[in-house]
Amino acid sequence: MTHLLTLEDLDLGALAGRRVFVRVDYNVPMKDGQVMDATRLDESLPTLRALIAAKARILLASHCGRPKGEPNPKYTLRPVAAKLAELLGSPVAFAEDCVGEPAERAAAALADGGVCLLENLRYHAGEEKNDPALAARLAALVGPDGAYVDDAFGSAHRAHASVVGVPERLARKAAGRLMVKEVGALRRLLVAPEKPFAALLGGAKIEDKIDTLENLLPRLDCLMVGGGMANTFLAAQGFDLKASLFEAERLDLARTLLARAAAQGMEVLLPSDVVVTDDLAAPTRIETVGVDAIPEGMKAVDVGPVTSRAFAEAIARARTLFWNGPLGVFERPPFDTGTRAAAAAVGASAAFSVAGGGETIAAARQAGVLGRLGHVSTGGGASLEFLAGKVLPGVAVLEVA
Ligand code: 3PG
Ligand code: MG
Repeated sequence: MTHLLTLEDLDLGALAGRRVFVRVDYNVPMKDGQVMDATRLDESLPTLRALIAAKARILLASHCGRPKGEPNPKYTLRPVAAKLAELLGSPVAFAEDCVGEPAERAAAALADGGVCLLENLRYHAGEEKNDPALAARLAALVGPDGAYVDDAFGSAHRAHASVVGVPERLARKAAGRLMVKEVGALRRLLVAPEKPFAALLGGAKIEDKIDTLENLLPRLDCLMVGGGMANTFLAAQGFDLKASLFEAERLDLARTLLARAAAQGMEVLLPSDVVVTDDLAAPTRIETVGVDAIPEGMKAVDVGPVTSRAFAEAIARARTLFWNGPLGVFERPPFDTGTRAAAAAVGASAAFSVAGGGETIAAARQAGVLGRLGHVSTGGGASLEFLAGKVLPGVAVLEVA
């Protein structure tokens, strides 16, 4: 059994006056210089408060967007520093570069319990390449006496310089509170989940979730599928989906998965009725029909009420639940109805429920059930890779035998 190093292993008392490099995932949606969703900031506060109370000198580092190795004001983290200061209720300095003179100056200026956010790591091409030279420069900001804390679960599936190169260079390192919480909650789904264990999967493509589905399948008692993904399964069963989108190249895969589920005696719920429209952007016709009666030229864009009821019943029976992905074109009401109904059912269930991914979280928030879920993962891709049974490089680097 491996052990994930935590802040307790780091000995918080010994961090007073020392610099700590804290990798966070502040890759958050922004509009006109405003943070549109501060969930990832909120979730990092327990770690930051613990380090501030320990009088550590905190250098925060994150990526934002995909600026492809060069500075781009569109992806600046400056507005995040202002928002974080508001949430913490104390000042957060900002350094215009994550290395070099601005970062070194900011590191030197930190008081005990002080916080500085470094500019976007991905302004440097070395970040995504895990370039040893960039990792060494980042590690040097805290020096050999310094420590590394990773609370960026959302980036733990990326073998980038700030995620693996920096901790490899520092003796003192640990997972922050959020990282520990994420790994613990997701592990509960893989290791002895309380039965029945149900998964509700949506979103556009099977392709994005295939590894996760394959790893979860033997553990599941019930699989519910909605969204574009469901179209592929329905087409694999021979339904004529007319103008609906599906992955023609994944039909064999969908058949194989359905056969495996059947061999296991598992319950699989696909949509039996769907909401169809002629044109998503400018609908002139919206109808609810059986999946065997989709009119010519129409496409499925949401699950129907009969399906929603069947899903809600299965959700109510579950003791463990994993939900990822919307069941329809959630961002275009009225095609958000099925997703909202599912969110309400997940919120009402007594199961240990885990939701992951930006769209799923947005749906849960809009349905007002976010606070009723067992765990809301701040990592979309990272939670899927974890549940696919993959080793996340950002977690592995913080584990000891
Ligand atoms: C995310 O939001 O998915 C994470 O921050 C990782 O970002 P990336 O997919 O650009 O690596
Ligand atoms: Mg991503």
